Amino acid sequence: MSTQEFIRNIPKAELHLHLEGTLEPELMFEFASRNNVPIPYRSVEELRQAYRFSDLHSFLKIYYQATAVLLREQDFYDLTWAYLSKIYSQKVRHAEVFFDPQAHTSRGISFETVISGIHRALSDGKEILNISSRLIMCFLRHLPAEAAMETLQQALPFKEWICAVGLDSDELGNPPEKFGTVFDEARKEGFLTVAHAGEEGPPAFIRQAVERLRVKRIDHGVRCMEDVQLVEELRAKQIPLTVCPLSNVKLRVFRDITAHIIKQMMDASLCVTVNSDDPAYFGGYIAENYMAVQQAFHLSESDIYTLAKNSFHASFLSKEEKQAYLSELDRFVSSHALIENVVA
Ligand code: HPA
Ligand code: ZN
Repeated sequence: MSTQEFIRNIPKAELHLHLEGTLEPELMFEFASRNNVPIPYRSVEELRQAYRFSDLHSFLKIYYQATAVLLREQDFYDLTWAYLSKIYSQKVRHAEVFFDPQAHTSRGISFETVISGIHRALSDGKEILNISSRLIMCFLRHLPAEAAMETLQQALPFKEWICAVGLDSDELGNPPEKFGTVFDEARKEGFLTVAHAGEEGPPAFIRQAVERLRVKRIDHGVRCMEDVQLVEELRAKQIPLTVCPLSNVKLRVFRDITAHIIKQMMDASLCVTVNSDDPAYFGGYIAENYMAVQQAFHLSESDIYTLAKNSFHASFLSKEEKQAYLSELDRFVSSHALIENVVA
């Protein structure tokens, strides 16, 4: 089995994925046509040409624009289902996915329409593809905290379907503490918390997310490496970091994949996971992200195994569910080693 096949077939979890970021150009054109929504591109190729970003902000402009084609419950179902079908072929056994309700409610789409479509697809994902999942509702941090609080209230009737709240969108100028009260309220309602921090923002934002928002995971967090003391804290507490290598290159957090800091994070014994963020825009789903890192840093199969193991440990699954997936992972790795030995 080649390393590529090993990566594609190893059971894994994805923990940092924006459903709106899985909108492939082909699907965008399909939705635009069936919903009669004009889009300012003549073809899939022209649209892909527009996917050149200078930073997070330049990406978000296109990402929010694109959501205009999503109108009906079925659109949210189809979007989510397309993602699940894709990751099924990459052996993602469990997915914890973000959605941005405010990107839709601001356009007059009801919260219920959005979440019903997503939830129905995730249920079918479990039933038909045997992929388990959790849904994480993100607040857009460039909007006021009051808007986030309003969104939290809208979510309460659907509490059973949402496992955690998160924080995304423009990081610079929007520190985690801006949402301290909203996250306090969310935790009171029983939601777990995560936050994007240290993608473009400074290490201090990671510390705020941990201390003020009491997050269980940091999304991205790559800039933690600038602060030795912070690294030590993240390591000691084993607070997981959901790293998205291809995203960081596309949004120019790192010059290229060889300049990425992920190997140093792994060497520092941080709980690192590999994820795809917005795969339709950044040139790859989870397997392509693992591949890029493996090639850049010559990761061994044992390193890949560690990353996959971390992905289940860092998930919001119950202890028993984690154990079941970790056993499946171990069975895969041992049978793989057995086959390799026979071949050798
Ligand atoms: N960072 C912040 N917000 C986002 C991202 C991201 O990578 N993707 C979608 N919303
Ligand atoms: Zn993200």
